[in-house]
Amino acid sequence: MRVLFLGDVVGRSGRTAVRILLPGLIERHGFDFVVVNAENSAGGFGITEEIFQSLIDCGADCITTGNHVWDQREALVFADRHERFLRPINYPVGTPGRGSNLYIARNGARVLVINVMGSLFMTALEDPFAAVTREVSACVLGHGCDAVIVDMHAEASSEKQTMGQYLDGKASIVVGTHTHVPTADQRILRNGTAFMTDIGMCGDYDSIIGMEKDEPIRRATTKIPQARLAPALGPATLSGLAVEIDDDTGLARKVAAVRIGPHLEPSEPDFGAKP
Ligand SMILES: [Fe+2]
Ligand SMILES: [Fe+2]
Repeated sequence: MRVLFLGDVVGRSGRTAVRILLPGLIERHGFDFVVVNAENSAGGFGITEEIFQSLIDCGADCITTGNHVWDQREALVFADRHERFLRPINYPVGTPGRGSNLYIARNGARVLVINVMGSLFMTALEDPFAAVTREVSACVLGHGCDAVIVDMHAEASSEKQTMGQYLDGKASIVVGTHTHVPTADQRILRNGTAFMTDIGMCGDYDSIIGMEKDEPIRRATTKIPQARLAPALGPATLSGLAVEIDDDTGLARKVAAVRIGPHLEPSEPDFGAKP
């Protein structure tokens, strides 16, 4: 099966690119399952139910989030209504919504998706490794499910790599999100897990991590906030990771960075005909 994972969608610019480009990407490469991190899709801060639904309507099978998940308060209500909406699993017990779920992909495969938040330089939640261990033990790759996809939403590259290496052979895909800058290390780890330290953002890269440049520069130079941070509005570049998973083992066979848009060196998978 083939999976596409798109990094943090930032604002209207990011949403527009996803709406225009995602259906064609699915068509061209035959993706069986699509995950999109959309924690910044509503004006750079959080996600609304309407935006959630629009991303599902253009081909996403699961929406993951991160530290910005509750920036739009309505998420506290709709999180419980939508199975395809995930928030980090390591929030305290009783938090609305869910942090993992099992889905049926277009090819019939059972796909476990886990959204977890790192512990370094972020709000302290339950230990991400304990939370993920619980999930992958309860639904073992090759037994309870045919693929395991983990969104490690974290600041530190070291912690994201630790999660990738920890889950090597137990997950099909581990990707980092949150920093909004794609790393150049997409690869298959020794025991078969596809990994990329950060898959970047879907947003306007003529910006500072997706936000309009002037105010962050003013704040950096004057130390005085003078305006709200707002997403940059230029055309977005789509960024993410494509993976071909072996249907028998649930482990990765091919990986490729996906980058489409005006800012980054273009990259699209060349997986050939579907097996
Ligand atoms: Fe983000
Ligand atoms: Fe984040």
